[in-house]
Amino acid sequence: MDRIKEPVVNDVPLHRLYRHYSELPYSIRVLYTATLLVLGTAYLFALIYLFHTYSGKDGDPRTLTYEDVVIAYSGSGKASRLESALRGSMATMLPREEINVIVTWVQDGANRARYEKEVKPTLDKRCMTCHDGSNPHLPNLNGFDNLQKVTERDTGTGIFTLVRVSHIHFFGLTLVFFILGTIFSHAYVRPIWFKCTVVAVPFLTLTLDISSWYFTKLYHPFAWVVMLSGAVMGLSFALMWVVSMYQMWFSRPPSVVTQREEGEITDVG
Ligand code: HEC
Repeated sequence: MDRIKEPVVNDVPLHRLYRHYSELPYSIRVLYTATLLVLGTAYLFALIYLFHTYSGKDGDPRTLTYEDVVIAYSGSGKASRLESALRGSMATMLPREEINVIVTWVQDGANRARYEKEVKPTLDKRCMTCHDGSNPHLPNLNGFDNLQKVTERDTGTGIFTLVRVSHIHFFGLTLVFFILGTIFSHAYVRPIWFKCTVVAVPFLTLTLDISSWYFTKLYHPFAWVVMLSGAVMGLSFALMWVVSMYQMWFSRPPSVVTQREEGEITDVG
């Protein structure tokens, strides 16, 4: 009994409701571990997807840079999607002279009068096998009105797309970090304020990250906030993941916890 009352130097006593992993039943530890493994895998896939989607925006797909983020959210301010596609991934679909005709038409303002004569025949012949609107994943290039959507100047991801992605991220990542934070709450980490910060930070960075997508449209340097908050969010994910796994299976329970266990047994006895 003496040891329970022994003062612990520089430490806050355990909360009445705190349970270390070693005090949890095996079924819960297995549940936590399986959840961590799948969440970790999901996070890796998210990173691969993110890199693949954004790293090539500035023309260099090898690195994910500030420029990539600016272009993704506020646009390159230069070519339209049609022009970039014709000079990029779609360049092999038609001869060079035909590309030039269409690009000139776009740069001249993409007006309706010249569309019928100069552009429509080429598109009908070269593009409709894939872009007639039957495939919902490809831009529909059938008719002037549809075509207008890809002849606008590149102003980055549209507001409505951002709204869609925002709500998915808010719901999804809140759930992820609620689960991760709950698992991590069983870890023994001191000082307490540090543990609380690690739990809270992802929610803060999530909000900063998502709101900065919109702000980047108005003021480009917000792209730094996007990148920084994404990085900090990843760090807190990694920290919670590693500490939880380690304390669950690889480290001895802290002595304050084992002492409490002895105390409880005595209480019951
Ligand atoms: C064999 C099928 C096929 C043909 C033919 C085709 N495309 Fe595409 N197109 C695709 C696919 C697949 C994508 C999406 C992947 C990508 O961007 O490379 C795409 C994407 C696009 C995009 C969107 C690029 C972006 O901003 O994401 C545009 C614009 C485009 N094509 C224009 C054209 C034009 C103009 C033609 C005719 C000259 C054409 N395509 C012919 C298959 C095709």
